[in-house]
Amino acid sequence: MQTISRVKGTQDFTDLTLYSFIVKEFEKQAQLYHFDRIETPILERVDLFKRSLGLETDIVSKEMFVIDTADKSEQICLRPEATAPTVRAFIELKPITPWKVYSFGPMFRYERPQKGRFRQFHQINMEIIGSASIAQDAQLITMLDRFFHEKLMLNNYALQLNFLGSYEDRAAYYDVLRAYLEKIDNVCKTCLQRKERNLMRIFDCKSDRCQEIFDKAPKIADHLSPESKKEWEKLQEDLSLLSVSFSYNPKLVRGLDYYNKTVFEFVSSDLGAQNAFCGGGRYDRLSMELGDSKEHPALGAAIGIERLMLLLEPMKDKLSLPQPAPLYVVMPLSGDQNPLALLLADTLHAANLATDTLLDGDSLKSMMRKANKMGAAYALILGDEEQQNKTVLAKNMMNGQQEQVAQIDLVGYLKQ
Ligand code: HAM
Repeated sequence: MQTISRVKGTQDFTDLTLYSFIVKEFEKQAQLYHFDRIETPILERVDLFKRSLGLETDIVSKEMFVIDTADKSEQICLRPEATAPTVRAFIELKPITPWKVYSFGPMFRYERPQKGRFRQFHQINMEIIGSASIAQDAQLITMLDRFFHEKLMLNNYALQLNFLGSYEDRAAYYDVLRAYLEKIDNVCKTCLQRKERNLMRIFDCKSDRCQEIFDKAPKIADHLSPESKKEWEKLQEDLSLLSVSFSYNPKLVRGLDYYNKTVFEFVSSDLGAQNAFCGGGRYDRLSMELGDSKEHPALGAAIGIERLMLLLEPMKDKLSLPQPAPLYVVMPLSGDQNPLALLLADTLHAANLATDTLLDGDSLKSMMRKANKMGAAYALILGDEEQQNKTVLAKNMMNGQQEQVAQIDLVGYLKQ
């Protein structure tokens, strides 16, 4: 019979040390900046994303994992991102604002898998809902930059920043950009489609020729209202004040429709084609678009955990990763000693000593090999002799020394 392999674009994590380290360190950072943890469901209604991300975005048009409910009464999906669910929760819960929350967990997008790109991937997501001040944007970006640089010791990355203006600025800019594109007839087919359906996304085009054309295109940051211009300048000033390095990328538009004003990405050349390991921005109208009666200006970001792991893997030694507790392995030499092995392991567990018990009747040689592979600190051997004398043969796996220890003294002996 054929075996069943894992679904394309998914992974089995076997060593979660780095994953847990990233999440734990982020949780400390989130507490420092006064964010609370929330958890929203993995299943959401498809309409939530259609309305928030936009019908023409890649995620909604081709990347959703959609499920018809058994009675066919509605379509639900595996969440592709966490911002829309968080805003939905905000509207339902009506918490006091600003609501500063973070969450982490799996997201799902039907993309072509490649290095750093999966169909099930994991994000740490954070949102600040109910704050209009652009100084908030500077603080969120600073929190992330300090996290990457100071807590995770990352150096080889850059922060890219753009300012998309207000929704009105954007509408006016669309006319300018369209007029510019009308004069150009050699952009690619995808750009021609985007020109009609999702204009700003032309800047994401992969073709070098299109990119050359867009280098000369009018930039939104040069077409801002005086009020937006002031905010854009303030954001840059605040980041400089806080010594956060950034580069202005006029082509950074992000693939989701809900953004206005600030958009940013943390990128690293060490990642290859999928170079962004964190992205975010402001989305002042999303709560209204999801049916709330009033606007709740908001901003947020998400970190791609797999991409951060790729960056941290080669420099793991520099990080203070948690060391596993010493492991003790109990080895009954025959089935007769199994009950004693269970009792002894129970005593060690009660004393908080990490203990495994080999109960399958393997030879001593094979059990020692297993203990070695497990990285055991001690092998605790129980044969007829030990059973009769109420002792254990405790073998130090580092130096090979062994000693008969009274069973009653074992915990004290191992804790020494
Ligand atoms: P996003 O840029 O779509 O933004 O995703 C954020 C990060 O998730 C990316 O920078 C990347 O590191 C990671 N990521 C995205 N897709 C994949 C994939 N297929 N495989 C592996 N990693 C991936 C958002 O999701 C927004 N909700 C961020 C946000 C929060 N904006 C405001 N608040």
